[in-house]
Amino acid sequence: MTVFTEETRERAREIIARYPADRSRSALLPLLHLVQSEEGYVSPAGVEFCAEVLGLNKAQVGAVATFYTMYKRKPTGDYLVSVCTNTMCNVLGGQEVYDTLAEHLGVGHDETTADGKITLEHAECLAACDYGPVMTVNYDFFDNVDPQGALGVVEELRAGGRPMPTRGARLCTLKEMAVQLAGFADERDGAVADGGPGEPTLRGLRLAEQHGISVPGFDPNTPIRSKAEADKAAAEAKAKAEAAKPAPAAEPAKPEAATGSTAPDVKAPDGKSPQVRTAETRQPDAGTAVADAPGTKVPTDTTAPAPRDAQAAEAAGTAANPPAGDGKPAGDEAGAQQRNLKEAEAGAGANGAGPAVASETGVQK
Ligand code: FES
Repeated sequence: MTVFTEETRERAREIIARYPADRSRSALLPLLHLVQSEEGYVSPAGVEFCAEVLGLNKAQVGAVATFYTMYKRKPTGDYLVSVCTNTMCNVLGGQEVYDTLAEHLGVGHDETTADGKITLEHAECLAACDYGPVMTVNYDFFDNVDPQGALGVVEELRAGGRPMPTRGARLCTLKEMAVQLAGFADERDGAVADGGPGEPTLRGLRLAEQHGISVPGFDPNTPIRSKAEADKAAAEAKAKAEAAKPAPAAEPAKPEAATGSTAPDVKAPDGKSPQVRTAETRQPDAGTAVADAPGTKVPTDTTAPAPRDAQAAEAAGTAANPPAGDGKPAGDEAGAQQRNLKEAEAGAGANGAGPAVASETGVQK
């Protein structure tokens, strides 16, 4: 019996729809936050859910989920207290803050108090070094903390209170934060307007103002548009650009000299790669080899390289590692993969070689 409801599935579909149809696996990171918002961690059921909706296998999902520290592998408390013990915060007292909390709460790194309220962890730089020592509660900042201040925060949390972070929105639970991290708006009235940036964050701006430095054409009062407004403006701009496009020229444009050009690369009418065109420009006589730069080591192996090694490796790996969903790896077109595999097998047969074995570095025979 899955813990993931139809509402979760609907949200999963919404997340996946944000990405191009052939790039749906890019939705994995927000989907992991989504499943974490249900259970407080990425459980085996959560891994299976992500694999199913993206057509990946569980090993692929697990590899991502175990790479990032924000995805928890065991149940968490309502509040994740992260104390920075990295260099800057450490010299300013971060380790003392962490040790005090660990002793007071009776838990170590990545452990949760018996009342299920607090999970403690030490973190390696919370990207707020100018406010050190810092700790976060569900990724909201408490700046310039000392051991007593940190104790006060966790005790208030355990008593049911919600102390106000130094910057940013008011606190929510870790599950609620996971919904936001999955890309859904904070629905609490006025929450996104809570708090403001701190002075260290604004220091660069103040200096720029003081010295009269500005970005040409930038209006600081430009309103931040909603997604719908931004989408509409982008669609209008695209339509305008399409309308302004000149009619296609009768004659194909001549490829411009590749050497030294900073213009964006365009596909030449002859379909040659920029490298080939550059070489031909430098050495117009096709019968003469282009000289190597001094010190270049030329491979002595005269065997022609197998042009499809990479595809063969991927295709063989896919064939040996079927996904959990509908049998089609997300983001790949199954027909193309099968064609690649057949071509690779045919190529191997023509060379008199046995079946190819995929490895990360290519194909071993
Ligand atoms: S070292 Fe603590 S926030 Fe960077």
